[in-house]
Amino acid sequence: AKPDNDDRFRPGFHFSPPDNWANDPNGLVYYEGSYHLFYQYHPYSNKWGPMHWGHAVSEDLVHWEHAPVALFPDEHGAIFSGCCVVDWNNSSGLFEDSHGLVAIFTHADTHPESGQPRQRQSLAYSSDKGHTWQKYDGNPVLSEDDLIDFRDPKVFWHQQSGRWIMAIVAGDHARFYASENLREWSLTGEFGKGEGSHDGVWECPDLFQLPVDDAGRSKWVLIISIGDNPDCPEGSRTQYFIGEFDGKTFINDNPADHILWLDYGRDNYAGVTWSDIPEQDGRRVLIGWMSNWKYANETPTGSWRGAMTLPRALSLTSKDGSVVLTQMPVREIGQLRKDSLSWKDVTVTPKTPFIQQTNYNLLEIEAELDVRSGDAVYIHLKSAGQDEILIGYDPADKRLFTDRSHSGVTDFHPAFAGRHGASLAAVNGQLRLQIWLDRNAVEVYADNGLVVLTDQIFPEAPIESIGVSAKSGQVVLNSLQIHTLESIGIP
Ligand code: FRU
Repeated sequence: AKPDNDDRFRPGFHFSPPDNWANDPNGLVYYEGSYHLFYQYHPYSNKWGPMHWGHAVSEDLVHWEHAPVALFPDEHGAIFSGCCVVDWNNSSGLFEDSHGLVAIFTHADTHPESGQPRQRQSLAYSSDKGHTWQKYDGNPVLSEDDLIDFRDPKVFWHQQSGRWIMAIVAGDHARFYASENLREWSLTGEFGKGEGSHDGVWECPDLFQLPVDDAGRSKWVLIISIGDNPDCPEGSRTQYFIGEFDGKTFINDNPADHILWLDYGRDNYAGVTWSDIPEQDGRRVLIGWMSNWKYANETPTGSWRGAMTLPRALSLTSKDGSVVLTQMPVREIGQLRKDSLSWKDVTVTPKTPFIQQTNYNLLEIEAELDVRSGDAVYIHLKSAGQDEILIGYDPADKRLFTDRSHSGVTDFHPAFAGRHGASLAAVNGQLRLQIWLDRNAVEVYADNGLVVLTDQIFPEAPIESIGVSAKSGQVVLNSLQIHTLESIGIP
């Protein structure tokens, strides 16, 4: 991309497209030593348009190489979101006795008679490790005439029943289909009407099983993104359900009105997980699109638009008797650390804040705070100018927040500026925060990923200093570490 003025927002260690528009991550699969990241891509504009699949490849989930566009629109329409699997046993019959990659995605066009949007599911396959792709000549492989919203298939091999299972969304619910060959699908179950949040249309499902606290039991997780709705200030966001999958449908462990959010920031949408990460590794790694349909088309990056969150390893933990998801950036991000500074037992007050100039805007910050005094504590990330990103915790109302009201360029949409957060109880009065700061984003992880806030920011000038202060009394910083991070290189 040409280094224009807008490149000041080009991330240093988050994935971004070489140029033009990107949204959802698609086709996440690990195969023969490489992690593949495909994504919704419009190669001719920095706004959403006829969708293609962009493509990038990584060996470590941190450094990415851009690859040519993998899937182009065709006679069945544009290429909406979907997944990839490794067809190890050639159950599809597409690979001449060998194995290869199969992409299962939504073909989106207009119904020739009704003029309504039409969404049908199709296949493409690659026998050369994802370099080149052929569309299956029997496309589409799954259509339902009575559904207008019917998209974003996520497929996995279900060991217990020995067949492929597809989770897919249909407006206000998720559906499950089964197949022996990835080409013929039959409906096995439905879940979701009246369950969880329906603030927007359901999109981008994912379904997988994870151990709970290594305690010898496991649970199924159903991830559902929900689209923007003009009446909903949060815009598009992602919820998840915990329960069981019996090979046919999902059974919710929680009451229907119990809502679990994946992220309490505004910019983590359409997140799904990698398929086929080897069992000995055992990780379930999610990446999200770091934007929000509320303002995604207006963000002030120029030649490119739409980056991804950090990839996160997911775990389940039992908290106050119920199971919840936790997430932390994959350990490979640690290789970006350059210099580290650390402090211990620093008492901060409104008059004596802690302030450190960094002169560097790619940072990882680890803070352990003792909030037993009951006073609120603030972390200030500041530029030499007026820009400030404020991260705070108030023990009085047990709330963790990010405030990007004065974070730089915010006026491109009325819903962008502001403060948002989550409730969080500090365990024994101690709070652990891990913060990743990039030129276009701040990701805040509290208590080892129990609560996460992912937000885009567009500072006018580079962030140069870190401050920690108390609201009115005093707070003890048990420890603070600041790591400068290397850039993964601008595409
Ligand atoms: C989610 C989504 C998907 C759809 C894609 C189109 O952000 O709306 O449901 O497949 O984006 O680009």
